[in-house]
Amino acid sequence: MNAGPAAPELAEPHLLAVLAAAGLDVEYVRGAGNTLYRLGDDGQELPVLDFAGGYGSLMFGHNHPEIVAEAQRLLAAQSPIHAQFSSHPYANRLAAELNRIIHRETGTDEPYYATFANSGAEAVEAAVKHAELDRVLRLAEALEEIAAGVEEIRTAAAARPVAVADSVCERLGLPRGSALEDVIAEVTRRNEALSAHAPVLLALEGGFHGKLMGSVQLTHNEGYRAPFAALGAHARFVPQDRPDVLKEILEDERADLLRLVLDGADVRIAESPAPVFCAFLLEPVQGEGGIRPLSAEFAGHIQEFADAADCPLVIDEIQSGMGRTGALLASSLVGLRGDYYALAKSLGGGIAKASVMLVRTARYRAQFELVHSSTFAKDSFSCHLGLKVLELLEADGGRAYQRAAERGAALAAMLDRVRTAFPDVVEDVRGRGLMQGFEFKDQSGATDEVIRGAAGSGLFGYFLAGHLLHAHGIRTFPTASAVNTLRFEPSILITDEEIDRLERGLTDVCGILRAQDSQRLAIPS
Ligand code: F0G
Repeated sequence: MNAGPAAPELAEPHLLAVLAAAGLDVEYVRGAGNTLYRLGDDGQELPVLDFAGGYGSLMFGHNHPEIVAEAQRLLAAQSPIHAQFSSHPYANRLAAELNRIIHRETGTDEPYYATFANSGAEAVEAAVKHAELDRVLRLAEALEEIAAGVEEIRTAAAARPVAVADSVCERLGLPRGSALEDVIAEVTRRNEALSAHAPVLLALEGGFHGKLMGSVQLTHNEGYRAPFAALGAHARFVPQDRPDVLKEILEDERADLLRLVLDGADVRIAESPAPVFCAFLLEPVQGEGGIRPLSAEFAGHIQEFADAADCPLVIDEIQSGMGRTGALLASSLVGLRGDYYALAKSLGGGIAKASVMLVRTARYRAQFELVHSSTFAKDSFSCHLGLKVLELLEADGGRAYQRAAERGAALAAMLDRVRTAFPDVVEDVRGRGLMQGFEFKDQSGATDEVIRGAAGSGLFGYFLAGHLLHAHGIRTFPTASAVNTLRFEPSILITDEEIDRLERGLTDVCGILRAQDSQRLAIPS
């Protein structure tokens, strides 16, 4: 149906208008490999070299032939997409294959149980929900044990005299010689108060974990998070490379449950750590926050903290994972071991919308599966495509991982060359594998009014992206929470020639900034 040219825009019209300001409101009609196509005025396809890569969802490019063939096979075979509450052997195969690779990369053999989901934020929220269920159950188990101890003391006190040690009364701020029942009541009151505390959630500054009601509170960008603060549990944000802050958090947040124990005829008091920490979320390479790899050194400090605090680590590999950095798990490259992993994006092969949350056996709670579900998760279509993606990653002794590392190094070397040529304009080049960021220096003091205005509006990177699109046929974006950084996340198919094209585009952009000549920007003014 043709709605006619005057039809109002109803699908996020404001967002489209913002994109239009930077010339990014183009329609793509086809995608293959690293190329998206749009239609020129003459109706002919115009190729656009895609470095945005579906925000990192396209390890194998747009519509990879083998993944498309698998999708077609599944549809032709009438593979059931909706078979909820039945056996899903393909999901089990996918979970087993993920386990096999994770074990190889992390050097463990502890099984990880899988809960499938549909989007990145959903997998993150499933992990946090599971971690909270585990925490609440651990707390309940500890309180039950404490209550059982109290009953033992009551039973003993009914049979023979027992005395409350003075140190107990002192510790609880009760008068010396208080009755046993008063002591029990005070211990119970304190333990209940501690149990009622909100769980401690930790996340890294600059991190991005999604924009749903729960996950947005774990995402650092205040603009996304603050308006919804009343709707979800809050995180405490940890600055990068600050082990001293981790120590501080451990001191601030740790708390002990009190238990009464019988020592001969004396009632004494003992303490045991309360499970106050729900989870610590982190990306091994921050994506949306500006392509910032976590250092191996700080990763080590985080692991130590997590062990000392008994705080589950939720490693968000939604963008960094699935081979992009040269391994299935970017965290394995910095020696980090997760209690939980979240994977999404390329798991669906660029076609299905699929994600998964994995939890190690030591933290696994079977009940979770009876209280958490999703209509669309774990369907045969997305699981089979996930299996195909893993097959492509693992083929020929893991050539795809090697290629991601090697192509990433070629891309990074080019970005470094441009930085070296334009030290006055380029602030930094960062990344791992096929996840690279190119940061420009702040232009809010630019002499060119248009460039200064773009920098002031927070849309600087979008204007540069608009120029790269219209003048060079290159698609990229800034990282949304760090708009001076352009992100490059092409597929493993990226060629030297394509990297050269990007070099010419970036050299042009840097030249424009150096010359402060916005006249040369090919975007609508
Ligand atoms: N975690 C990470 C590390 C992500 O990069 C994203 C999305 C999410 C979670 C949420 O996934 O969108 O499927 O719910 N990152 C996009 C980006 C928005 O800009 O790279 P989602």
